[in-house]
Amino acid sequence: MTVLVAGGAGFIGSNYVRRRVGGGDAVRVLDKLTYAGRRENLEGLGDAVELIEGDIAERDLARGAVEGCDAVVNFAAESHVDRSIESPGEFIQTDVYGTYVLLEAARDAGIRYLQISTDEVYGDVEQGSATEASPLDPSSPYSASKAGGDLIVGAFARTYGAEALIIRASNNYGPAQHPEKLIPLCILNALAGDPLPVYGDGMQVRNWLFVEDFCAAIDVALERGQPGLVYNAGGPDELPNMEVIRGILELCGRDESLIERVEDRPGHDRRYSLASERLIELGWSAEVGFADGLERTVSWYRDNESWWGPIRSGEYREYYERHYGRSLGAPGEAPG
Ligand code: NAD
Ligand code: TYD
Repeated sequence: MTVLVAGGAGFIGSNYVRRRVGGGDAVRVLDKLTYAGRRENLEGLGDAVELIEGDIAERDLARGAVEGCDAVVNFAAESHVDRSIESPGEFIQTDVYGTYVLLEAARDAGIRYLQISTDEVYGDVEQGSATEASPLDPSSPYSASKAGGDLIVGAFARTYGAEALIIRASNNYGPAQHPEKLIPLCILNALAGDPLPVYGDGMQVRNWLFVEDFCAAIDVALERGQPGLVYNAGGPDELPNMEVIRGILELCGRDESLIERVEDRPGHDRRYSLASERLIELGWSAEVGFADGLERTVSWYRDNESWWGPIRSGEYREYYERHYGRSLGAPGEAPG
């Protein structure tokens, strides 16, 4: 089987490519290699992976990439809430319009299309958990763009009979996540002795899912899911950010004096929580608890400075200074 993995050079996409290649499949990756996508993420996978560098929103390129494939899994997106607040246009372009272009190519090729989406489309979940029937109520330009993409996928399944479906995950963490996201940011700052920036009171709750568990969920949805349906994939643990940060400090041998409260994110959702019964009925469950997954993640970052070193010394430093109003420790500073 040959799968087209759009956005396969990013965090979750590259973990998924590894899983498919490990299972003996050939993978074609279509990726624009934005600041978040990296060739390094596909290193060591040999001939099983073909990388096409380009934009899912380019019609001819998307159609060419789909040709000869048996299925499309679309991870390609602008994915960071804070950057969507800074510049929403790129999110609408890729997450809405790009989704449409790639989906149309898959429909015309008559192949299955799985859209990778997020629990953030449900917005704040004050009580209980969001099911697939919960209304969409996105808060940020990122989640609104993802919701737009999802609605187009649903419409294509219903209107054209496209074999298209959606999986919505809660917050992922694990190896090779860009350090602009909470967990890798705090791990690298803790290792370097830089302050850990906490938005507002730090009591916002996220439903953490280890990336390998999500990749397993994707295969269940791809193989056994029904076109036109949505499948939620939520993590086993719901934790306030402050607890996550304390866990990171402990694993990195640092104390709480590194915690620094910073201005809250505008429109910040207080809590996400997903009910995943539909996927559980198909045989999926999350296996990795947060304590175990966090330990594995911290170990990965400790062992892979050659992966994150260039990020922490590049454009990310400018982003960090712009966003947090302070600079990071010197690049290459020895981790503790
Ligand atoms: P990421 O930012 O690490 O990776 C996104 C990838 O898409 C990058 O490789 C980037 O180069 C590529 N890309 C961006 N625009 C593109 C375009 N126009 N054409 C082709 N490629 C393009 O993101 P991630 O965290 O791996 O997330 C992957 C997907 O999963 C996204 O769709 C995101 O919305 C969704 N998701 C992420 C999480 C999470 O916690 N990370 C949770 C739920 C859902
Ligand atoms: P993030 O990793 O950006 O994921 P998302 O916004 O998609 O949930 O953030 C996770 C949580 O951590 C979220 O509540 C925002 C918070 N956060 C901070 O407190 N400080 C930070 O520097 C970042 C990046 C996030």
